Amino acid sequence: MPTKLRTGLQEDGGRHPSPLNVMNFLNEVAERYPVAISFASGRPTEALFDIQSWLALLPEYVIYHAERSGRSTAETYALLAQYGRTNGLINELIAKQIGCDHSINCTPAQIIVTSGCQEAINILVASLCDGPTDVIMVRDPCYIGITGAAKLNHVDLVPFLCDDVEQLPDALYDSVKRARLAGKRPRVLYLVPDFDNPTGSVLSRQAREAVIEFCSKEGIFILEDNPYGLFRYEGENVPAMYALDRLGTVIFLGTYSKTLCPTLRIGYAVVPDGLSRQSGIGVTLLDRLSQIKSFGTVNTSQITQAIVGAVLLREGCSLHRIVGKGIALYRHQRDIMLANLVHAFNGLEDHVKWNAPAGGFFLCVELPFDFGRDEVARCAEQFGVLVMPLSFFSFGTHQRRRVRLAFSYASEEKIADGIARFAAYVRYRLINERNTSMSS
Ligand SMILES: Cc1ncc(COP(=O)(O)O)c(C=O)c1O
Repeated sequence: MPTKLRTGLQEDGGRHPSPLNVMNFLNEVAERYPVAISFASGRPTEALFDIQSWLALLPEYVIYHAERSGRSTAETYALLAQYGRTNGLINELIAKQIGCDHSINCTPAQIIVTSGCQEAINILVASLCDGPTDVIMVRDPCYIGITGAAKLNHVDLVPFLCDDVEQLPDALYDSVKRARLAGKRPRVLYLVPDFDNPTGSVLSRQAREAVIEFCSKEGIFILEDNPYGLFRYEGENVPAMYALDRLGTVIFLGTYSKTLCPTLRIGYAVVPDGLSRQSGIGVTLLDRLSQIKSFGTVNTSQITQAIVGAVLLREGCSLHRIVGKGIALYRHQRDIMLANLVHAFNGLEDHVKWNAPAGGFFLCVELPFDFGRDEVARCAEQFGVLVMPLSFFSFGTHQRRRVRLAFSYASEEKIADGIARFAAYVRYRLINERNTSMSS
């Protein structure tokens, strides 16, 4: 039995750490078992970080900005090093890029540039949910970042189950109805409609339209979180919810963490035009976001905004070329993982099942036994592989047999090795359980 880990394990006596401790818990397991192959985190692969070339492009952004603002290049460098505008520096280039890549039509003034998408989630939760009965509707399981943001802002989440993503609109309607009956005001719906983290699922166009119409009628804002939308490996693109929305209900959240690299910490929120003029709380939503951000991170690093700006200028404000390399690599890694799952679980097809997502960074495996934090530690310590239980993203017990595997980070060889190790753990557990039930 592994010795107890510090984080989370002593908190609730249950099977998973508190939402605020999930990342610490996994980091601690990874630190303690450094040779374990990790499928736990949704990191992009470092092979795609062209960081030296991106850094070398910085002067191009400086020249661009200097020409447009009438400053010298020395003054522009000084400006980049100074405190900056809270809502961002490169809004115009971002507006062009999302116009090209996501068919999103917006002005630079509708965008607030944030320190990663996580900050956008935080400030939106804080701005939109300020009433005592305000709640956020989320699918169960959901991305840990919204759970943490809600907790830090003392806002309750209302999770709803829908194993089949096509059932999402109906599950949402029921859940909103029940929340209202319980005296709550559903204020926000948080969704990752494209290659969801953790499930990998994609919401159909029809379901997106139904959800937008419903939320608009009910006065619920939709946070459309879209880190993975450009990583489609096959099949038809589904339009972003923001692009389908004619009712001013959807707020689009983006990031350059997966398309370029996470250390830039550049994300953004796009507020629909009608909404940015709406003044329910005395100031427009964008002003409110800006106020809250100014007391959080003051402004987003202008140096890293300038690096993103330079890459966008060089790429003609589209990430298609850069993401194309990622698509080829991640598709290959997904295929390697799927092929190795078939091979490693040969003979166990009735007991172990998985999905084959058409994009994104993750797939999910369903096991014939519960897999929680003790199993994470045991699997890492004794079998040398680290995976993410879906129960860490969940609010009940229904995800307790599922795990999320990220195929984005580990190399081809590590994927093959890691899946063999994971399968060895599963077989060991099944044999042990069979022996225990025979002897009892
Ligand atoms: C669904 C989702 N939203 C947001 C984020 C956070 O992105 P960022 O690095 O821009 O803060 C992630 C990161 O994994 C994610 O999976």
